[in-house]
Amino acid sequence: MYQEIDLDRIDMSSGPPAGEPARQYYFMAKCREWVREFEQRNGRCPLAYIQTFGCQMNSRDSEKLLGILEQAGFKKGETENADFVLYNTCTVRENANLKVYGRLGYLNSLKRKNPHMIIALCGCMMQEQEVVARLQKSYRFVDIIFGTHNIFRLAELLYRRLQGEKQVAEIWEDTSQVVEELPVDRKYPFKSGVNIMFGCNNFCSYCIVPYVRGRERSRRPEDIIDEIKRLVADGVVEVMLLGQNVNSYGKTLTEPLSFAKLLKRVEQIDGLERIRFMTSHPKDLSDELIAVMKDSKKICRHLHLPLQSGSSRILRQMNRRYTKEQYLELVDRLRAAVPDIALTTDIIVGFPGETEEDFLETLDVVRKVRYDSAFTFLYSRRTGTPAAAMEEQVPGEVMKDRFDRLLTEVQTMAAEVVRRDEKTVKPVLAEELDTHEPGYLTGRLESNTVVHFKGDASMIGKIVNVSLDEAKGFYFMGSLRE
Ligand code: 5AD
Ligand code: SF4
Repeated sequence: MYQEIDLDRIDMSSGPPAGEPARQYYFMAKCREWVREFEQRNGRCPLAYIQTFGCQMNSRDSEKLLGILEQAGFKKGETENADFVLYNTCTVRENANLKVYGRLGYLNSLKRKNPHMIIALCGCMMQEQEVVARLQKSYRFVDIIFGTHNIFRLAELLYRRLQGEKQVAEIWEDTSQVVEELPVDRKYPFKSGVNIMFGCNNFCSYCIVPYVRGRERSRRPEDIIDEIKRLVADGVVEVMLLGQNVNSYGKTLTEPLSFAKLLKRVEQIDGLERIRFMTSHPKDLSDELIAVMKDSKKICRHLHLPLQSGSSRILRQMNRRYTKEQYLELVDRLRAAVPDIALTTDIIVGFPGETEEDFLETLDVVRKVRYDSAFTFLYSRRTGTPAAAMEEQVPGEVMKDRFDRLLTEVQTMAAEVVRRDEKTVKPVLAEELDTHEPGYLTGRLESNTVVHFKGDASMIGKIVNVSLDEAKGFYFMGSLRE
């Protein structure tokens, strides 16, 4: 079982231990010595601010990064006006990438006013050689650069910077190491992401993820179960099992175990009330998994099932390894087993070579499946992916026109679909105080749809019955029922 190491008991007289996680705890203790000197000089704790871009995996990584910094004595800051600023970056689309460069200019201006400020960058964008080369050449004010495989080494890298090293950069190409048992500061006390695997082997032709997150590696089931038990003991009622392609979980373990069987083990954890997972690849979604979802009391009746395109021709170009018909047939099987399941999806518009007919196929699938919601993306050309080299890139204005049409379709449909639950009473996990309406709470249905209802802070983290009085497009206004 997990044992957090007490920093006061670490022997600092000898050098750093070689093994992990002991080595990182040693460096957390070293950073804490610096933090104490800082406190004496300034009469306050140093503030650390982390900004996360991108997906749920990055959000989970940021909770770990904050945990490390807090263990070293930093306090959590709420803005970039802090002593340590870390951007955990995303590079899945170019926009996310550009946003980071834009924000770096602002950070530089803050650093001019506060020269002791430490600026760090990590995450997917740092796994691209051109990015690191650009930072090393033109962004010398960035103090620490690291990637996705070595986030657990933050304390050590920070210590090197505190010792005077200029622009500490450490990027690993890949890793087989999964370092467990480091401190974590969770954003929500009652729900948490749990990584079950890292990386992706699918190589969809538009996607940069396999290049920046490396090959697929599954965590051992015992470690996952232990982590969830620990979380439940600490007040967590809902977990989201995270991986780029959870349906292929366990294939590379020394004792292979299917994702469906992992879910069955998670289901048995007492005190855990809701289980979610993402992302599912349609090609790997098994009948075994459908059967487990059907029988489960805890797995939310919601599945995020990225479509990407409704045209079988484009799907082949995307290397998705399913056709439009296979996708629709899978949806039928899911709905036959779990009739009230909510489906959500990701769709890319403007993949190279996409014609109007291809796009109409996508609209057709959207109409047939009737999603609860859909994330729609303009295709973004990512250097190094096969799609970037394809001829016939779709002109910007054509892409934009299709995007707008798709968005209208998705929004109209989602509003209709969500309304099916209007005037019913359903369990809602109360998540936070409503930011707009004083006296109201915001929570989520199993389907992941947001509900606002009257309530107070004492209910946060509890699953309560709420009458869904009025559907307002993407969300409900409800009232508490006990
Ligand atoms: N352009 C646009 N969208 C992309 N996605 C991944 N790569 C790209 C790209 N190059 C989308 C996919 C994926 C989601 C996380 O991001 O829809 O499911
Ligand atoms: Fe990218 Fe495809 Fe892997 Fe998802 S499954 S991360 S879209 S390569």
